[in-house]
Amino acid sequence: MNITICFASLPPEPWVQAVQQALPDARVSAWAPGAPPADHAIVWAPPQQFIDEQTALQTLFNIGAGVDALLQLKLPPSLKVVRLDDAGMSVQMAEYVCHAVIRHFREFDGYDADTAAGKWSYRKPRSRADFAVGVMGLGVLGERVAKALQVFEFPVNGYSRSAKDLPGIRCFSGAQGLPEFLAATRVLVNLMPLTPETENILNQGTLSQLQAGGYVINVARGKHLVEEDLIALIDNGHLAGATLDVFRTEPLPADHPFWQHPKITVTPHTSARTLREESIAQIVGKMQALQRGEPIRGVVDHQRGY
Ligand code: NAP
Ligand code: GLV
Repeated sequence: MNITICFASLPPEPWVQAVQQALPDARVSAWAPGAPPADHAIVWAPPQQFIDEQTALQTLFNIGAGVDALLQLKLPPSLKVVRLDDAGMSVQMAEYVCHAVIRHFREFDGYDADTAAGKWSYRKPRSRADFAVGVMGLGVLGERVAKALQVFEFPVNGYSRSAKDLPGIRCFSGAQGLPEFLAATRVLVNLMPLTPETENILNQGTLSQLQAGGYVINVARGKHLVEEDLIALIDNGHLAGATLDVFRTEPLPADHPFWQHPKITVTPHTSARTLREESIAQIVGKMQALQRGEPIRGVVDHQRGY
């Protein structure tokens, strides 16, 4: 088996070594232009030149859950694209989202400001029942996040493309289910893939349907959100604020208004990181399953876009 590794912005060497160690009989190398043909590739945002040159590839293993960057390339329709399927990301995402929801609900930013000023003051407890959290995207990450939020007894709504039935979660689906989902939601968590259907889905029209005092947590992709619409809805008081991990331009430009906005918390695309060991174990396991002719999870539907 020949395996090539091509990353846009990450040194491939530790991956080459670890994959070689896991598959001693394979030939594993970092890709460079003109490299010999490989059977499988492990990639993150490779250039079109990589796809054009590697014409013998059977499988592209993406080292992230989101394949939006990959599907922007011109790919042969028969090329199997496989995304990471959890690999240690769902627990990180659950931590991040629960932290953001609880920090907002319990007003911990306000307490931090008070204590920094040497002020001992109480805030009136808020009712959990008034803070329904709506998770958009009930896949590998969204379902885990929804279940984690239930532990803290928040009312939880879920939204997906196909209809779902998850214990204790009010599930909505499809374009016809979106208005009811938004109207039932105060804190919105976005965990949908970026596809032509979901690009710009968080906009003035949808965000203004959230309950008054709504809050937005975007941990999926920056292009889901129309940034100026979010700022306008926070500034006019309909929304209370936002926690954002992903942006239309990353790194977030130094002069971007999100940095200084008092009601917006920014993190640098870090809510669920790719963990090398877990990811390699999953990818190697899938390569071996394919060799045995067995089905694998996480195969991307090129048409659907995720
Ligand atoms: P997944 O398992 O494929 O789940 C996607 C979910 O979104 C599914 O429930 C799907 O519905 C739903 N969905 C897709 N298109 C929809 C639409 N048009 N309307 C309504 N629902 C729609 O993906 P995942 O592994 O949970 O990952 C989700 C996304 O998180 C990734 O694509 C990536 O962009 C992002 N992510 C971000 C980070 C970070 O660090 N910020 C890390 C990892 C992933 P069905 O169930 O009906 O198919
Ligand atoms: C990270 O953003 C991922 O898609 O895994």
